[in-house]
Amino acid sequence: MEQAVLQLKNLQTTFQSGRREIPAVDGVSLHINKGEVVGIVGESGCGKSVTSLSIMRLIPSPPGKINSGEIVFKGEDLTKASPKRMKQVRGKEISMIFQEPMTSLNPLFTIGNQLVEAIRNHNKVSKKEAEKKAIDLVKLVGIPRAEELIHNYPHQLSGGMRQRIMIAMAMSCDPEVLIADEPTTALDVTIQAQILDLMKSLNQSKGTAILLITHDLGVVADICNRVIVMYAGQIVEEGTVRMILKDPKHPYTQGLIRSLPKLTEREQELYSIPGTVPQPGSIEVGCRFAERCEYAFDACFTENPPLFELEESRACRCLLYREEEESVS
Ligand SMILES: Nc1ncnc2c1ncn2[C@@H]1O[C@H](COP(=O)(O)OP(=O)(O)OP(=O)(O)O)[C@@H](O)[C@H]1O
Ligand code: SF4
Ligand SMILES: [Mg+2]
Repeated sequence: MEQAVLQLKNLQTTFQSGRREIPAVDGVSLHINKGEVVGIVGESGCGKSVTSLSIMRLIPSPPGKINSGEIVFKGEDLTKASPKRMKQVRGKEISMIFQEPMTSLNPLFTIGNQLVEAIRNHNKVSKKEAEKKAIDLVKLVGIPRAEELIHNYPHQLSGGMRQRIMIAMAMSCDPEVLIADEPTTALDVTIQAQILDLMKSLNQSKGTAILLITHDLGVVADICNRVIVMYAGQIVEEGTVRMILKDPKHPYTQGLIRSLPKLTEREQELYSIPGTVPQPGSIEVGCRFAERCEYAFDACFTENPPLFELEESRACRCLLYREEEESVS
């Protein structure tokens, strides 16, 4: 854990609903090491975005708040950081790519203007130097004719190009951690592969640690070292990509893998896990996956499964593994 650049310790983020504080992220602990690519996967509503927005301290408040836990970035607990300090952290030390690039690019300014502003916000450089860096960044993200492109407005670019510009923007200050929340969901498969390649090469050339959030296990397989599976606000399984894809332990992860389209089974109907993710706070006792789990037994409805450590860097929140291993949380 020594090289962890970012560590969440028992993070709980809640949203006020009437008199209740509903936990959307409920006791999440994870770490990401320097230069590592970690994936967070799970269906819609599992708490992936709330986790990433909590790290950036961008949870809308009210109704949301970080209720408890720590977000440790290089030894500093960001839950205690001042708004001024967080402004420094965002963009310069931890950057985020949002799912829909048009929400983060200003339609009224050219790409060049926005990149120059992002660069100058965090670095004391002249406008000319910033312009040169902006062009270098646009080239770095694989866009040809960068000198011309920076004079365009966001709407003049394709979705894939805009996403590359978002990555260029996020990389403009050489962040130590890049959080990418569904960076390729809105893109077609070919462009998706190119964007993932780009992120992989930035990770390798600059050593940027990446937290990649996606509902797509296929994306995770492409570029991640480790995977964290979230369900209903909690981590239910974690392990290396190989462990998770080849030998998933948690029935939920098994379901996610079964739902992946297989090239060899063209005729078969695509499997999907029956039911839906429960609303946060709706299950007070028992395994949150029990209603959808084909292995559920009596204890699953009366006990809260802890996260069992199965082997090094491998954990699973399922009572089926209780006899096998010791509980870690
Ligand atoms: N501003 C908010 N107010 C109230 N509840 C919220 C708010 N934002 C998120 N939530 C709740 O938190 C839970 C987790 O949401 P989150 O956006 O993190 O899901 P997600 O895993 O990112 O899903 P998706 O794959 O659809 O992006 C959801 O049940 C959602 O309704
Ligand atoms: S604890 Fe029970 S219900 Fe939950 S995943 Fe394991 S077997 Fe299924
Ligand atoms: Mg989300």
